[in-house]
Order: sequence, then C-alpha cells, then structure tokens
Amino acid sequence: MRIFGVHAGRRMGNSEILLREAFMAAQEMGAEVEMVNLHDMKILPCCGCESCMMKIIRDGKRPECIYKGKDDVELIMDKILKADGIIISIPSFILQPQGLYKIFVDRWLPYEIAFLLEVNIIETTPQRVAGLITAGGSTPNWMSLTLPALQMSMFTQSIKVVDQMMATQVARPGHVVLKSELIARARLLGQNVAKATMTPYEEVKWLGDENQGWCPICHSNLLMQGTPHWDGLVYDVECAMCGAGGTLCSEEGRTVFVLAENALKHCRVFSEGRRNHFYELRQVHEEAFQNQEKIKAGSEKYRNHDVTILKSQEKIK
Ligand SMILES: Cc1cc2nc3c(=O)[nH]c(=O)nc-3n(C[C@H](O)[C@H](O)[C@H](O)COP(=O)(O)O)c2cc1C
Repeated sequence: MRIFGVHAGRRMGNSEILLREAFMAAQEMGAEVEMVNLHDMKILPCCGCESCMMKIIRDGKRPECIYKGKDDVELIMDKILKADGIIISIPSFILQPQGLYKIFVDRWLPYEIAFLLEVNIIETTPQRVAGLITAGGSTPNWMSLTLPALQMSMFTQSIKVVDQMMATQVARPGHVVLKSELIARARLLGQNVAKATMTPYEEVKWLGDENQGWCPICHSNLLMQGTPHWDGLVYDVECAMCGAGGTLCSEEGRTVFVLAENALKHCRVFSEGRRNHFYELRQVHEEAFQNQEKIKAGSEKYRNHDVTILKSQEKIK
C-alpha cells in the first residue's frame, strides 16, 4: 500500500509533524510512504486559458495543460495518481488552506476523473482514499473554510475522504508536540487511511468522527441557501462543499440537515453529479461559441476603455 503526503507548511512546522505522525502509524500497518512540501516545487498558477476544457468538452479528447513539462505539477500528480492513499496536511491561512495549495489544485482540471470517464479516456474510477489535516493558530471558527476546501480538492479526483482533523491553537513551529491529543488524532487518521486502502473500495466508509459537520455525505460544516441549478432543480438548503440537497429540520431539539430524496443529483463527490456538471459546462460554453460576433462587438467599448494599468516592476526591468 502506497500513501503519498502533501503539505505546505513550515519546515518541522505543525502540518509536517502531524503528517509524519500519521505516516508513522500507517507505516506500522505496512504502508510505503512518500511526501512533498509544495514550497520545494515549481508550481505555475493556472492562467485560466481553458485549453484543457476545450479539448475535453468540445472535442472529447484527452485534455492537456499548456504548462505540461514547464513545472513540477505533473511530477506530483503522477505520485498522487499512483498512490492508494493520500494525506493532505495544510495550514489554515485566513480561514482557508494556505494559498500555494489552491494554486496547485487549480491545475487539476485536466485530471478530472468524471470528465475523463465521460469521454471514455479512462474506463474505471481509480480507487483512492484520503485523510485531511489542517493546523491553525486559533479555534475552529477561524479555520472554518479549510477542511471543506481541502475536501473540494479531492472530488475532481474521485478520492474518497475517510477522515479529517483540525489541529487548533497551534501557532509556532512544532507547537503541536505539546498537545498529545492532537498527535494521537493524527496517528488515528494515519491508521484510518491505511485501513481504508486495505478495504474493498465499495465498502470504504467514513471512519472519522461520526458527528462531524452538518452534511451526512461529506461531513462538511458549510450549508447554503438553495439556488436553482441549470436543470431548474432547487433545494431548500445545499451543502456548499459537496452540493447534496435537502432541508433543515428539528430532531430531538437539535437542528439537522435532512437530505432530499433526489439529494445527490448535483452532488460533486460522486461522478454522476459531476457528469451532470460536464453537460452544464458544455451548454454554457456552447452559448458563447454560438455568439462569438456579439461577444466581440459587445466587448469593443471595454477594449477601448482608457485606464492606467499597474505593471510589475520585475517585468519592466
Ligand atoms: C498569513 C497567515 C494567516 C493565518 N491565518 C490563520 C487563520 O485564519 N486561522 C488560524 O487558525 N490560523 C491562522 N494562521 C496561523 C497558522 O495557521 C499556524 O501558525 C499554523 O500552525 C502554521 O502551520 P505550520 O506550522 O505547518 O506552518 C495564519 C498564519 C499566517 C502566516
């Protein structure tokens, strides 16, 4: 069993220590482990050209990034694609994952499993599982968007998240070694990921804290008011992470998120929900393709608009 770890914290910082603790537990169960600190890699930000999307959505062909071979993204992705388990350990910065991780994950669009399945570039979903860790200097509310954002990065790869943890109130590098309960929790996470890699994939279930989060599907704590989907479907309330739909009810004095019968139609953690999104994107792109002339004419006044544009000093030199 191969487990690959990704972190983006300080050297011997809290994220790295928690990842190493999870690794140690997994190694005791027979795992081979390898990790990367994203700060050691060259990762160019996605420029948004959408050439990968055009290839797959319009032509049904294997998408390719224009930066292929120009940085280390392919090298890291190759490790992720070959792993049975993945452990992501990223600090919370301004409530969210540290920015380098987001830059890395934006480059995953050409690897979108549901889209590759849809155009028959791959035949089956790779069977991979993950555990997610975040470390922050404050309490959960100050880290509120981090675990959901880490989870979001897993769905394009159809990776089943089996456990996740927040290490709260660890501010200085190595601070977490003072908190034995967090070290023990990281150990359990490592064991859960290792255990899940040895379980038949259809039977892999959530192994984390049972009561974590509102959403019974992804255990995220982010709910939003429902808004109409492209096919007209509207739920009362939706999970902002996975898109499962339902409503809020009172059960034994507690407010709970109860799933609708068709809750999973747009749920992103399943390929079927993202397949639906594939056709939405096709439709939206088609509207733009059909109206190229109008877009050109309507953009004219913005092209001619006179404004001073700040340029990088680096580029001027
Ligand atoms: C720019 C910046 C923003 C931060 N924002 C938050 C935050 O919103 N919530 C939080 O709990 N901690 C925040 N922190 C603290 C770090 O998450 C904390 O120090 C963490 O332990 C760093 O992980 P590391 O030791 O793996 O590098 C922030 C730190 C920095 C540098």
